[in-house]
Amino acid sequence: VGHIDDVQELRKSKPSIIPERFVRDMTERPALATPMPCSTDIPTINFSKLAKGTKDEIKSEISQLANACENWGFFQVVNHGIDLSILESIEKVAKEFFMLPLEEKKKYAMAPGTVQGYGQAFVLSEDQKLDWCNMFALGVVPNFIRNPMLWPTNPENFSESVEVYSKEVRKLCQNLLKYIAMSLGLKGDVFEKMFGEAVQALRMNYYPPCSRPDLVLGLSPHSDGSAITVLQQGKGNSVGLQILKDDRWVPVKPIPNALVINIGDTIEVLTNGKYKSVEHRAVTHKEKDRLSIVTFYAPSYEIELGPMAELVDENNPCNYRRYNHGEYSKHYVTNKLQGKKTLEFAK
Ligand code: SIN
Ligand code: FE2
Repeated sequence: VGHIDDVQELRKSKPSIIPERFVRDMTERPALATPMPCSTDIPTINFSKLAKGTKDEIKSEISQLANACENWGFFQVVNHGIDLSILESIEKVAKEFFMLPLEEKKKYAMAPGTVQGYGQAFVLSEDQKLDWCNMFALGVVPNFIRNPMLWPTNPENFSESVEVYSKEVRKLCQNLLKYIAMSLGLKGDVFEKMFGEAVQALRMNYYPPCSRPDLVLGLSPHSDGSAITVLQQGKGNSVGLQILKDDRWVPVKPIPNALVINIGDTIEVLTNGKYKSVEHRAVTHKEKDRLSIVTFYAPSYEIELGPMAELVDENNPCNYRRYNHGEYSKHYVTNKLQGKKTLEFAK
């Protein structure tokens, strides 16, 4: 018996009527908020200029990074230095995993009250609308958050691809946080020093086509609970990711082989709101499926966080309280995705 909430199973029957649980209230439907044919794209950052540029190039790229973080909360990184073969490999195993029969994927099912494995976290009540998306999530670093039972042995090279990919993305996150610190006029190592052994998690999202993309959402609006997030979009994907900018949903047009970076709630709090975590969502497509591979990079759970002294002064009074990051993580994963509401925890 197919599981009704599994959208890939649902899609198999190509329903012309979408089950009620997926049909959004009028105000949430993507069509109503369809972006104007918009020529603005999110900023692009050339990572190789940051890492290996001349003094002037570094300076100008850092100021573009500051603009991207302050005015967009999202940017695409090109020349990030991660081998194309590594990106291709993770995409391939992710796709192969989602294409497995449901029975096989259920071996890695997310247990109730947990956030790793195959299934939907953030579903907390019977009347909550569901996202048109199948998800698979894994904790990667530190070791104690791993649940080896949930690491697929099929496809065969799944785990190895995740390990290789995650190491590369971790280095990229560390470097980006260094440049983000510099873009704030701070020492490059402030975040690294503060974070302890940073928590790294991976989530793969698979969005099958939907006969009524005007009625459903692929992923509900939310900001990320991480410090920063790295998103890889599948090749040949439909445009699916949208970010809320000046009250309008702006689509993120994928640049081939680029990675999309966004500021998470942690950096918003640490910078006292100078760099904000921006609300985003995913929409579906009538004929095309879509895959995204998302890495969340966040401080160690025992870390206490609050706005950094350097970002607080007479003109910028402290906007957030101090709290324990582990408690925030728990708060984040035990609530539904709800735009920026989750961050009220820090108010
Ligand atoms: C996410 O926000 O976790 C993923 C959005 C996407 O699929 O592009
Ligand atoms: Fe997200």
